[in-house]
Amino acid sequence: MKKDRRDFLKYGSAAGMMLATRPRVSFGAPAAAEIAHDPQRPEFHLMPPHNWMNDPNGPIWWKGQYHLFYQLNPHAAVWGDMHWGHAISSDMIHWHHQQVALAPTHGGPDSEGCFSGSAVVFDGKPAFIYTGVQNASPDQATIRDGSDKLRETQLLAIAEDDKLLKWKKEPKPIIPSPPPGMMVTGFRDPTPWREGDTWYVGIGSGEREVGGCVLLYRSKDLRHWEFMHKLTQGKPNGKTAVNPCDSGEMWECPDFFAVDGHHVLLYSTENKVFWTTGEYDTKKHVYFPLKTGVLDHDAAYYAPKSFVAPDGRRILWGWLREMRPDAQFSAAGWSGAMSLPRVLRVNRDGYLEMTPAAECEKLRGEAKAATVTSTEPLRLKLDTLRREVQIPLGSAAPKFAVRLLTDEAKAWELVVDVPERSATCGEITVPLPQPPWTNDALRIFLDASVIETFFVGREALSNRTYNVAPGKTELQIALQAGEGLEVKHWPLQAISPDRLTT
Ligand code: FRU
Repeated sequence: MKKDRRDFLKYGSAAGMMLATRPRVSFGAPAAAEIAHDPQRPEFHLMPPHNWMNDPNGPIWWKGQYHLFYQLNPHAAVWGDMHWGHAISSDMIHWHHQQVALAPTHGGPDSEGCFSGSAVVFDGKPAFIYTGVQNASPDQATIRDGSDKLRETQLLAIAEDDKLLKWKKEPKPIIPSPPPGMMVTGFRDPTPWREGDTWYVGIGSGEREVGGCVLLYRSKDLRHWEFMHKLTQGKPNGKTAVNPCDSGEMWECPDFFAVDGHHVLLYSTENKVFWTTGEYDTKKHVYFPLKTGVLDHDAAYYAPKSFVAPDGRRILWGWLREMRPDAQFSAAGWSGAMSLPRVLRVNRDGYLEMTPAAECEKLRGEAKAATVTSTEPLRLKLDTLRREVQIPLGSAAPKFAVRLLTDEAKAWELVVDVPERSATCGEITVPLPQPPWTNDALRIFLDASVIETFFVGREALSNRTYNVAPGKTELQIALQAGEGLEVKHWPLQAISPDRLTT
C-alpha cells in the first residue's frame, strides 16, 4: 500500500500527470450500472457520472442555483483532455449533472485542454476566466516540467443563457503570455476579483530556485490586461524536482479573497494545500502573508477554490483525489470526488477556521448517542458506508481511537490524544490547537472510500480508504485514557439512488 501511495504521489497534482505517459482511454471501462453499485464509490459527494474529475472550477450562485464546474476528462478515468463538467444544486448537497460547459476548441488556444479557472459576473453576465493549453515549441512552452510541450494562456468565456449551459469563448487569449523576460515554471489557474471599477487577476506561477508566486494583472473590461507585479512571492526552499509543483517552485490554483477583515491566499504545491492570512496593501496591491498553515493534512485533498454564497458565507470546494494506483481507478471507471462544502472564517488571531457547511446536516437520518468507556467500546456494523460521527473534545480530555475494521482487518484508524494536542492517522499527525476552542467538535464524515474529518473547527484531514464494504465494515471507538466519551452518530442519506451516475 505504501509503495502504491508513493507512486501515486509522484504524479499527485493533476498537472504533474502531464509528465506521465497516460492512456487516453481506460481499459475495460465498466458500464454505468456497475459503477452505480461500486461500494467504493461515494454516495453523497459530487462526482461526474463516470470517468475522471479533478479541481473545482468557477463556483457561482446564479439565478437561484449553485453552479459548480470541475476539471473533467469525459473519455476516461485518467487525467487528460480537460473539459469543464457542470452540476447544479439548490443546497450545495444534492446535485444534478448538466452538459459539459467548456470543451477544447480544435486549433484554438485551449486545443489541448481547458484548465482551471474562476467565474465572475461582468456586465450582468457570468464569465469564466480560465487557462487554455495548446501545443508549443519548448521555447514557447510555459509548463516546464521536463516535457516542455504545452503553452498556457488565459482565456475568457461569457455565459449565453441563465442556466449557464452555453458559453461563448473569446477566440484570442486575454493574457497571451507570461511577463516578458520571466522564465516561469507554469502560468495558470486565474483568481479574479474587483476593486471599484478595476478588475484584478492573480495567476499561479513560479520560477526555478526562486519559488512559487502569484502574478498580478489589472483590467477595466476583462479583455485587456496589464501586468502589474507579483502579488506575493514564496521563498526558495532548496528543494528540486523535475516537476516544479513537487518542489514548491510552482503554485497551482491560487485563491485570494477577504474574510472577517483578513486577506487569505490559498495555493497548492508539493502535494499540499497551504493557507496564509495576512495584509493586502490596497494602494500598492501587494499581499504580505503573516500566518500560514496546511489546509488539509492529507494529500488526498488538493486544488481548492472558494466562492461567496448568497448569505455571505465564504464556501470552499476541494478535489478529493484517489490514493490508489491509477490502474485500479482507471479500471473502476471513475476517479476523484468533490469535498463537502466547507465554511471558511478567520479568527481574531489570524488563524483560518473551517467547518462543514450547515447544509451537510440535511443528510442526517436518526441520531444515535452512545457513551464509550474503557470497558465498553462502541462497535457498530455498518450496513451502509454513509455515517457522520461527532465527539466533543472539550470535556473529558481523553485519548481514544476511531477505527474502521473490515473482517477484523484495520481499514482506517485515527487516534486522538487531546492532552497531547494531536491526532494521528497512519504517518500523518494533525496538531490540535490550544483551547479555548470556539467549537470543540470532532466530526467525521464517512462516504464509502472517502473520510473527511474536521477538528475543533480548525484542522481538516481528508483520507481515502478502499478496504471497506457495507455489511462487513465495523466502526469502532475505543477509549485509551480518560473518563468517557459522549459519541453521537447519524446514518447519512445518499444524494441519488444511483451514486450520481445519471
Ligand atoms: C491542479 C491542476 C491545475 C490545472 C489543472 C489541470 O490539480 O494541475 O494547476 O489547471 O489541475 O487539470
